[in-house]
Amino acid sequence: MTTLVVCTSRSSHQNTRRIADELGAALDARVVTPDEVTPAMLADADRIGVGSGIYWMSFDPRLVEWIRGLPDMSGRDAFIFSTSGLPETSLRRYTTSLEKLLRQKGFRYVGAFASRGLDTWGPFGMVGGVSRGRPDADDLAAARRFAAEVQRWQ
Ligand SMILES: Cc1cc2nc3c(=O)[nH]c(=O)nc-3n(C[C@H](O)[C@H](O)[C@H](O)COP(=O)(O)O)c2cc1C
Repeated sequence: MTTLVVCTSRSSHQNTRRIADELGAALDARVVTPDEVTPAMLADADRIGVGSGIYWMSFDPRLVEWIRGLPDMSGRDAFIFSTSGLPETSLRRYTTSLEKLLRQKGFRYVGAFASRGLDTWGPFGMVGGVSRGRPDADDLAAARRFAAEVQRWQ
C-alpha cells in the first residue's frame, strides 16, 4: 500500500512535522505539505495521513482547505494526526469534524493519533510554555504503534 503523509506545522518548534516524519518512516511514506502534493502523488496514494498543529482549537485551515479541494477519494484510506498544547476538549471536537470531512470525501477512515506538543504561544511563552519537551521519545514510540495499527487495516 502506498501512503502519503500531508502535514502543516506552523510553529517554530515543528512539533507536528516530527510526528509526521515518524509516521512517514514507519509507513515508508513521503511526507509533504499540501502545496507540495502533485496529481501523480495523489493518484499513487492508497492511503493518506493528514495532520497539523491545533491553532485556535482547529486544524490548520490550509490543510482543511486542501482536503476540501480533493476529488472523490473512494477506495482510499485516511488517518489523522495532530499535536496540541492541551488535550482536545468536549467543547470543540476538531478531530471529529475532520473525520467527517474525510468520510464525505469518500475515504475509509482508519483512525487518529494525537500528541501533546510544546506550546509557547502567547501567555504560555512567558512561563516557559506548556507541554514542555513534547513530543518526546514516548510520543514518537506511540506514533510508531499507531502506524502499526493503521497497517492492520489493509
Ligand atoms: C497561534 C496558535 C494557536 C494555538 N491554539 C491552540 C489551541 O487552541 N489549543 C491547543 O491545545 N494548543 C494550541 N496551540 C499550541 C499548538 O497546538 C502546539 O504548540 C502544536 O504542537 C504546534 O504544532 P506545530 O509545531 O506543528 O505548529 C496554539 C499555538 C499557536 C501558535
